[in-house]
Amino acid sequence: MAHRGTFITFEGVEGAGKTTQGQRLATALGPDVVLTREPGGTPVSERIRDIFLTSDRITTMTELLLIAAARAQHVDERIRPALASNQIVICDRFIDATVAYQGYRGGIDLEIIHQLNHIATGGLTPDITFILDLPPEIGLQRQQQGETHRDRLDREPLEFHRRVREGYLSAAAAEPHRVKLIDAAQSPDDVHTAILTEYQAYLSK
Ligand code: TMP
Repeated sequence: MAHRGTFITFEGVEGAGKTTQGQRLATALGPDVVLTREPGGTPVSERIRDIFLTSDRITTMTELLLIAAARAQHVDERIRPALASNQIVICDRFIDATVAYQGYRGGIDLEIIHQLNHIATGGLTPDITFILDLPPEIGLQRQQQGETHRDRLDREPLEFHRRVREGYLSAAAAEPHRVKLIDAAQSPDDVHTAILTEYQAYLSK
C-alpha cells in the first residue's frame, strides 16, 4: 500500500481563529501542504457553500444534505488524491462541524449525522483535529471588532453558538486520541505554539 499523507482538520466556534491558525500551521509545515476548507474546496463544493451560506429559508436537514454532498465531492476530488500522493492536507472544518452545527445546534439525531458523515467521506477520518475552544461571546465579539464578513450562521443567537461549542467539547471528549482541544483565548502566538506541540506529540507516536 502506498504511504499516505497526513490529514489535519481545524474546528472551532466563530471567531476562534481557526482559519488563521490553519494557515500558520501550513506555513510551518512547508510547501507540500494542501490548504482547503468545508463546505468548499472544489468548484462544485464551493457552489454548494454559496447556496448553504446565502439561503435564508433552509431546514437543518437540507443543510445536512448540502454539507454531505459538498463533502463527498471534496473528499473524492481533492482530499483522497492529495493524501494518496503523500501530501499533508489541512482542512478548515470537517466532520466534527457537522456534529456541532447540524447535531448540537440543529437538533438532528447524532446517529444520522455519523451515518451521513461516514457515507460522504467513505470512512475517511482526520489523523488529528484541533478544536480551537473559546466561549462564544468572546468569539462573536472578536468577529464584530474585526473586518471579517459575518454569514447567516454567525448572526444566530448566542444560545446557538453555545450549543455549537458544547458539540465540539463532546467531540473532543469522545475521541481524545484524535481531537485536541486548544485554548483559543490565548494570544495567537501561544495558540500556534500549542498546536505545534500537539502535532509533534502526534508525530512521535
Ligand atoms: P466558516 O465560517 O468556518 O468558513 O464555515 C462556514 C459555516 O458553515 C460556519 O458557520 C459553520 C458551517 N458549517 C456547518 O454548519 N456544518 C458543517 O459541517 C460545516 C463544515 C460548516
